Amino acid sequence: MNTVNPAADPTPGAPVPAEKGVLIGDEERAEAAAAPAPAGRRARRDGAPAAQPGVATTGDTSQPVVRIRGLRKSFGDLEVLHGIDLDVHAGEHVVLFGPSGSGKSTVLRSINLLEEPNSGSVCVDGVEYGPGLPGEKGSGKPAKRGKPIELRRKVGMVFQQFNLFPHLTALENVALPLRSVKGMKADDANRKAAESLRQVGLLQRAAHYPGQLSGGQQQRVAIARALSQDPKVMLFDEPTSALDPELVGEVLRVMHELAEAGMTMVVVTHELGFAREIGDLNVFMDAGVVVETGSSELFDHPTDPRCQDFMRAVR
Ligand SMILES: Nc1ncnc2c1ncn2[C@@H]1O[C@H](COP(=O)(O)OP(=O)(O)O)[C@@H](O)[C@H]1O
Ligand SMILES: [Mg+2]
Repeated sequence: MNTVNPAADPTPGAPVPAEKGVLIGDEERAEAAAAPAPAGRRARRDGAPAAQPGVATTGDTSQPVVRIRGLRKSFGDLEVLHGIDLDVHAGEHVVLFGPSGSGKSTVLRSINLLEEPNSGSVCVDGVEYGPGLPGEKGSGKPAKRGKPIELRRKVGMVFQQFNLFPHLTALENVALPLRSVKGMKADDANRKAAESLRQVGLLQRAAHYPGQLSGGQQQRVAIARALSQDPKVMLFDEPTSALDPELVGEVLRVMHELAEAGMTMVVVTHELGFAREIGDLNVFMDAGVVVETGSSELFDHPTDPRCQDFMRAVR
């Protein structure tokens, strides 16, 4: 198989498409600072009223990329999500935060059907993947009901644990699902994988095995793997929680750059400084419900006592 010669980057002729993706290098960073915001990046809607009462939303009225309504999930007899309503629009960055066990991971996992909702609607890109809403059943609405395999092509997920194959190089880890999920030819998959590694600043490590990479670098490979599928939305479940403190910054930096490049993102994180920077909509969850939502204001002036307690505890 074709491998990328790490020494070839970033010399001209490296087997990587020339067009710009997410901006990573220092020169590119400087360019990005001078350039107007990409089209996908939405202006902050600080203080924007919710479009529908009870729905966690920035108030954008376009069709959401992810629309969740009445999502309930039980494990055995224990219901852990008690009806979640959330909209994520194109280019938005939604932060989920709250105490351990509040249901954040279950919401994320329900968005790509790693957990099957017991009831409620999970609509991604206009297609229903959950059981749907009462009244919609049998009525033929929405017209399209998607398959999990199609959903997973649209939704990239990054976990706390990187889940890389130890016997595959960074490039192969990214290229493998491009071949198996997207059905790409080896050459095309390798080219695309190299481009994705470049986007996370790791093209020079393409031939390295996970054991030769730091935890931060491994997580960036995992981000490249998700990114390479050209997802409509990326889900991050505490992507820096397993990292040594000195490695957190490089992963947050890559996520920040993805956000600035207009990627639609839902991020579960305890890094509230980061959340404050990227969060267009911040959603505080407790005990399986959305308790409070808002712009970055939420971090300074939470109104619900449970959110106030949480903010005090993490400060
Ligand atoms: N596979 C599972 N089986 C049983 N209970 C689960 C499972 N996954 C999550 N839970 C429970 O669901 C609740 C919400 O968990 P989770 O979504 O992981 O919360 P968070 O991510 O906010 O910490 C917790 O009480 C947790 O113990
Ligand atoms: Mg969790």
